[in-house]
Amino acid sequence: MNNSDSTIHSHPYHGTFITFEGIDGSGKSIQSKQLATNLQERGFKVVLVRDPGGPYISEQIRSILLNVKNDGMSPTTELLLYEASRAQLVHEQIQPALEQGAIVVCDRFTDSTITYQGHGRGLSTDLIRKANDIGSLGIYPDRTFFLDIDWDESTRRRSKDNKVADRMESNAHTFFENIRSGYEMLCEEEPDRIVKLNGKQSVETLEQNILSDVLLIIDNKQEKG
Ligand SMILES: Nc1ncnc2c1ncn2[C@@H]1O[C@H](COP(=O)(O)OP(=O)(O)OP(=O)(O)O)[C@@H](O)[C@H]1O
Ligand SMILES: [Mg+2]
Repeated sequence: MNNSDSTIHSHPYHGTFITFEGIDGSGKSIQSKQLATNLQERGFKVVLVRDPGGPYISEQIRSILLNVKNDGMSPTTELLLYEASRAQLVHEQIQPALEQGAIVVCDRFTDSTITYQGHGRGLSTDLIRKANDIGSLGIYPDRTFFLDIDWDESTRRRSKDNKVADRMESNAHTFFENIRSGYEMLCEEEPDRIVKLNGKQSVETLEQNILSDVLLIIDNKQEKG
């Protein structure tokens, strides 16, 4: 896919759709929350969601996906469950919010499927793009922030938090390095949409850079009407 494709693909609504991506512990949840708070403080209507998750149906699918007891799950089953969860999230929350002109901030989205199920599990990325077209209802972000940290930093942060690994997180070092290089490839393919940020910068520095970028995107959208 080239850049012009990625621009055409975003969505037809006057709302703004922002996603956060990166390996486990890269700061997605913190930065999603901070961005939502910063925008709300400036008077914008913001909807903060996570994928997989959100609606009751999607949260139930999320718990199947992350349950360590489901270690026999095939990569294709995993792919389809992620897409099923996403389709409900987009249908119930993301699409209506964008239609109403809100800013949607989403913790992970379609790029995670390309990197984890494609570069991580080895499914064809072409196949995943088709599955993503179904699960996203054809709605793609205006901007994606890829928070980049290495495996050692991810491990340090997760052990600091005493985080018990879920089914996805209990994978090996090479799995995560494959995912990280998958994100690098996406950045090269879609530089207009995906912004790579050094995830080791301070929470505050990242937060300010992200906010400035999003405010510019909103201004540009308003100018275009
Ligand atoms: N810029 C940063 N500098 C230092 N520590 C950070 C930074 N951002 C996040 N952290 C710490 O890293 C840990 C993980 O952060 P967070 O939960 O936001 O990551 P995540 O990407 O959502 O992880 P997961 O994929 O597991 O949901 C937390 O302990 C958080 O305080
Ligand atoms: Mg998180």
